[in-house]
Amino acid sequence: MTEEIDKSSLPRHVAIIMDGNGRWAKARGLDRSEGHVEGVNTVRRITEVASELGIGYLTLYTFSTENWNRPQAEVDALMHLIVIAIERETPDLIKNNVRLQMIGDSSRMPREAYERLQQCIADTSHCTGLTLILAISYSSRWEIVEAARQFAADVEAGKAKASDMDSDEVFNRYLTTASYPDPDLLIRTGGDHRISNFLLWQIAYSEIYVTDTYWPDFSREDFISALRDFRGRERRFGLTSEQLK
Ligand code: IPE
Ligand code: IPE
Ligand code: MG
Repeated sequence: MTEEIDKSSLPRHVAIIMDGNGRWAKARGLDRSEGHVEGVNTVRRITEVASELGIGYLTLYTFSTENWNRPQAEVDALMHLIVIAIERETPDLIKNNVRLQMIGDSSRMPREAYERLQQCIADTSHCTGLTLILAISYSSRWEIVEAARQFAADVEAGKAKASDMDSDEVFNRYLTTASYPDPDLLIRTGGDHRISNFLLWQIAYSEIYVTDTYWPDFSREDFISALRDFRGRERRFGLTSEQLK
């Protein structure tokens, strides 16, 4: 399957809004949590294929700032599942040379969950293949406010001047994603055409692909279809078609 795609035209960074776990479960008369459990299998599947294809960065929207407002039982179950799943997958991540990273407001995470995730990050820090970035307790507005606060703190401490903030590139250094390229392709499963507070700054020129498929059903073939669709896009970055030739 992975041989069937031309690797020269792959996106360097794919970001995914993994949506539809709850609806997948409901359609089967199951509890929402069963959908999240099945969603973890999709995470493994898509991480594997991204890694095999040689994609550089895969960012997965795992838990948003707004998701903290879900019923407490669902929040607790999700946090538990995230930690258990990452710990279980870490040996395979290492085997596949995948480096785990996390972005988001970790101060809101239960301390034990945070520490266990940090351990997995440390355990994969030597890996040089795919960088898998989990956005947990993440929202783009939180990140942008935090960047502004940190820059103001640098100015206050005499480490920067207001006039230093003179380009996208300088602002970018204050974001949690500073060391990653911007996503080339943004995929949303579950059919909704919205961004839900994900990477607002970084997706300025990302190609957007929405599929009705719920995340637990999102297959390797579906992922490859999204990559094929991406390959057919003309990314003009504000220029004319003729200028690109
Ligand atoms: C996405 O699935 C996973 C998280 C937001 C954690 P949902 O739980 O949002 O599933 P739907 O959108 O209700 O189907
Ligand atoms: C987006 O899904 C967040 C994640 C996938 C983690 P939501 O289900 O929370 O988004 P909305 O509520 O449909 O916008
Ligand atoms: Mg949802």
